Amino acid sequence: MTETDPIVEAIFDAVAATAPEIRAALPGRRVESGTDNPSGESVLAGDLYADELLADALTAVDGVGSFVSEERAAAVDAGAAVGSDGEGAYAVAIDPLDGSSNLRSNNAMGTVVGVYDAPLPATGRDLVAAGYVLYGPITTMIVADADGVREEVVTEAEGGSVDRSVVEEDLTLPDDPLVYGFGGRVPDWPDAFTAFAREIEDELKLRYGGAMVGDVNQVLTYGGVFAYPALNSAPEGKLRLSFEANPIAYIVERAGGAATDGDTDILDVEPEGVHDRVPLYVGNEGLIERLEDALAGD
Ligand code: AHG
Ligand code: MN
Ligand code: MN
Repeated sequence: MTETDPIVEAIFDAVAATAPEIRAALPGRRVESGTDNPSGESVLAGDLYADELLADALTAVDGVGSFVSEERAAAVDAGAAVGSDGEGAYAVAIDPLDGSSNLRSNNAMGTVVGVYDAPLPATGRDLVAAGYVLYGPITTMIVADADGVREEVVTEAEGGSVDRSVVEEDLTLPDDPLVYGFGGRVPDWPDAFTAFAREIEDELKLRYGGAMVGDVNQVLTYGGVFAYPALNSAPEGKLRLSFEANPIAYIVERAGGAATDGDTDILDVEPEGVHDRVPLYVGNEGLIERLEDALAGD
């Protein structure tokens, strides 16, 4: 077991510490904020609240040099030029509230975090850690680093302090896949993806909840495949590389799975901007290989 990086630990302590406050704030923040984010999507009051809370928490962490958020056009300078270990500061990319359209319907949502050892935009190879908080029936946090993937339960202790307790030390994808979840509208799927989906529908059970973190957590738990595919109307898909696809790819690959944009490992995709979109297919290696073959017309 390599020693966990103290700055990474401090980052996930800060993220965990915001979780109870974000969760408690959601009931009163289900409305549109009246603004759009850099991806051109309407922003809910919950998105903005989570973004503000996480921005304060992350910029206070020694060793965080800058952060990027789904809700902000450019990177925010967090001050640290050098981490406490004397090395360069980390750049953190966050999706403060993933799946926020589930807020009105009271379904799962989460917060996604990528910790990069390079200025953003960067490739996923520059990730040193990644994770997500899942606001489900209970609040859990997945944390992945060079050591592997662990699942934690996040609870608010007496007096408001937050407790992180590891419930799964070494999370790995089950060998036998069980579930699938594919985004976008079926008529908008390219023919090659539709053919792959038809095969998968005969083999696995549909689990699609409209929040990437909830749907990916199904795949991590039960094995299978999640995709927000390239669409006829949107060849780049919907999900953003820096703070959705890269962190999820990092987590799933460290759990023994695979992640692709259709023909390239997600972690090798070269971004131009921090809000670049990318098609995302993640899950058991065998399924991702079949998917890449299907899209290549093999
Ligand atoms: P966000 O709420 O951060 O914009 O992310 C929503 C994303 C992702 O969570 C989910 O997989 C996808 O949007 C769902 O899209 P559809 O509503 O088109 O299914
Ligand atoms: Mn999202
Ligand atoms: Mn979001």
